[in-house]
Amino acid sequence: MLVLGIETTCDETAAAVVERHEDGRGRILSNIVLSQTNEHAAFGGVVPEIAARAHVEVLDLLIAKALDESGRRLEMMTGIAAAAGPGLIGGVIVGLTTAKALALVNKVPLIAVNHLEAHALTARLTDGVPFPYCLFLASGGHTQIVAVRDVGDYVLLGNTMDDAIGEAFDKTAKLLGLGYPGGPRVEREAERGDPARFALPRPMRGREEADFSLSGLKTALRLEAERIVPLSDQDVADLSASFQQAVVDVIHDRLKAGLALFRGRFGPPTALVAAGGVAANQAIRRQLHRLALECGTVLVVPPPALCTDNGAMIAWAGAERLALGLTDPLETAPRARWPLEEVSKTRTPASYLELYRL
Ligand code: KG4
Ligand code: ZN
Repeated sequence: MLVLGIETTCDETAAAVVERHEDGRGRILSNIVLSQTNEHAAFGGVVPEIAARAHVEVLDLLIAKALDESGRRLEMMTGIAAAAGPGLIGGVIVGLTTAKALALVNKVPLIAVNHLEAHALTARLTDGVPFPYCLFLASGGHTQIVAVRDVGDYVLLGNTMDDAIGEAFDKTAKLLGLGYPGGPRVEREAERGDPARFALPRPMRGREEADFSLSGLKTALRLEAERIVPLSDQDVADLSASFQQAVVDVIHDRLKAGLALFRGRFGPPTALVAAGGVAANQAIRRQLHRLALECGTVLVVPPPALCTDNGAMIAWAGAERLALGLTDPLETAPRARWPLEEVSKTRTPASYLELYRL
């Protein structure tokens, strides 16, 4: 099975070709990602209108390049997958409409993939992780602990009540004048800072439910910074290190609660899987590794390029769904909001498949 995957939900335009074998193993044949970071840098964050226009400008070229690098032709694809949400609606429309056109012209099924489901299933492409596993998804827009029980069967165990972890990193970077994107820059500063210099809170610590709250931490950091302005280079490094340490501690505590909830409801997970851009952070990865050991499970983290947004994860989720006969009609609407728990395992009526096999 060969699937072309298209990702345009945020500030990365991406296309990839992934192969799925009958035994369930997958292989990436090409994976092209073009980041729009430069277009948005001057604004300190992603500007939706600029993002949508940038996707329009490059998507067709990117798809051609992904096909070219894969050594396969468009006519050889078994299905065309695109992220149909959640995300910035202008960008989602660009990717999904392109996928519909390619599916229609090629007379192959469309798979409208949930972007979060794609993050959730990536560990099966890279490491063949069997169900059920515990997913920690932390990106710029999401911070969730999810029981991944099957393709299309997700149970939310914990969620952030305010900011996402990546968002907290980005806001911290902005506050400290480190620019955009924030996560990697805060991590770099933290390496030469003192994580114990500022006493920042660890919100929600010790609670039985597995939810997160990060806005209090952000406010506490701002107050500390305001207390000592003007900030020296060392102050910036120490604030970064203290912030990152607080996040690491919060993740440890909240995930421990999440894993306990998982065990109570579904038995032991096959693995703790981390996904989303925040999983690229080395200090967080080290802590996740310790936590997995402590909780008697193993940690699986896809390589950084597959943790951040990419086309291969969309193609792979498309292939997993296609293997189960889960395809989508050409009328499928793009969705700005689309919680993972609402992703279903419903089969498209056969009449629809006939419709595009004209
Ligand atoms: O998954 P992703 O590429 O895009 C979505 O948000 O869907 O995640 C991007 C987020 C940003 O908020 C970025 O600051 C954060 O992940 N991030 C990091 C690191 N690299 C990226 N956060 C902490 N440390 C990092 N090294
Ligand atoms: Zn993402």
